[in-house]
Amino acid sequence: MSNHLLWRALSRADIPAVARLLDESERVDETSEHYDAADLAEELDDETLDLATDSVAVFDGQELIGMGVVRVRGLVRDVHVVELWGTVHPGYRGEGVGRGILARQLHRAAALHAERHPDVAGRIVVRPYDHCPDHVRLVRAAGLTPLRHWFDMERDLSDPLPDVPPLAHDLEAVPYSAARDGELRLVYNNAFAASFGAVEQDREGWAQWFTGSRAFRPDLSRLVLHDGRVVAFLLSYFYEADAVADGHQEGWIGQVGTLPDFRRRGIGTTLIGQALHAYRQAGFSRAVLDVDGESDIGGLCIYSRLGFRVARKRTSFVRVLPVR
Ligand SMILES: CC(C)(COP(=O)(O)OP(=O)(O)OC[C@H]1O[C@@H](n2cnc3c(N)ncnc32)[C@H](O)[C@@H]1OP(=O)(O)O)[C@@H](O)C(=O)NCCC(=O)NCCS
Repeated sequence: MSNHLLWRALSRADIPAVARLLDESERVDETSEHYDAADLAEELDDETLDLATDSVAVFDGQELIGMGVVRVRGLVRDVHVVELWGTVHPGYRGEGVGRGILARQLHRAAALHAERHPDVAGRIVVRPYDHCPDHVRLVRAAGLTPLRHWFDMERDLSDPLPDVPPLAHDLEAVPYSAARDGELRLVYNNAFAASFGAVEQDREGWAQWFTGSRAFRPDLSRLVLHDGRVVAFLLSYFYEADAVADGHQEGWIGQVGTLPDFRRRGIGTTLIGQALHAYRQAGFSRAVLDVDGESDIGGLCIYSRLGFRVARKRTSFVRVLPVR
């Protein structure tokens, strides 16, 4: 590895440089994920992330050529999940920069686990795309092992849309309303309690990543009520930077969930069908989402039935940290 490179933590002032670096990486990696400076400010400048300890930046002179972040999301149920995210400029790949970043991230992730939750098992997670072999090789070489597959799915909204089956007479679909946001968070936690990789959300996490995020589209999000209580929901998001980069206005189905007692009554199918029509009405050309490729409770099956196709695959590679 070049020994003239400067290694330090990221700072808020680096955000424009991170945006440029991610842009350079995306030209090669083609993950379809784009970030503008405002997205990155939301991603990197929040209270749950301490950049001074939980990030690494690599500079060649003034240029940021690599970065990595270590992040804990949500509350701990039975496992403490620590996620790693990062990239290396395509012009500097194959020179050990990624190895150096990942080694620092793994070290920090283990320390975070030991500091915060030594009494439960920890799981360090990296999710490279399957079509980025360098990234996959890197995490394998560090001894992480593949655990789970995830699919990015897309549906072209210019193709005929399915008819939306009506809900049963005891159920009512209503628009998202902020007045129900606290209840919705608890319903989300309940609906996703058994879903692999979903962590319980506290108020801060919910506000940061779900209905308080700048991409959230309340007007395209729906709740289903039974006896005045929320029993199912679909939350939509729109990422401006993706639209600017690839010209597609995409409606992102971020989360769809039905409480266990209300499943298999067609609610999920109706919510997704309604969302497809609403997205087309809003002028979007595609509906997109990412889904657990191995879940045995529905998501993948409903999406395939409604015309979604797998666009990309990624794999969770993990290192398990023992209980101390
Ligand atoms: C996925 C989910 C939203 C489906 O909600 P739902 O209201 O049950 O959806 P539907 O009644 O329209 O079910 C549609 C199909 O999904 C499949 N399905 C739903 N629940 C299932 C279960 N428990 N076991 C097996 N298949 C299931 C079936 O194929 C079902 O069609 P069928 O009843 O005609 O066989 C719900 O199971 C859920 O909240 N899961 C946890 C969260 C999650 O995984 N969300 C999706 C990823 S974001």
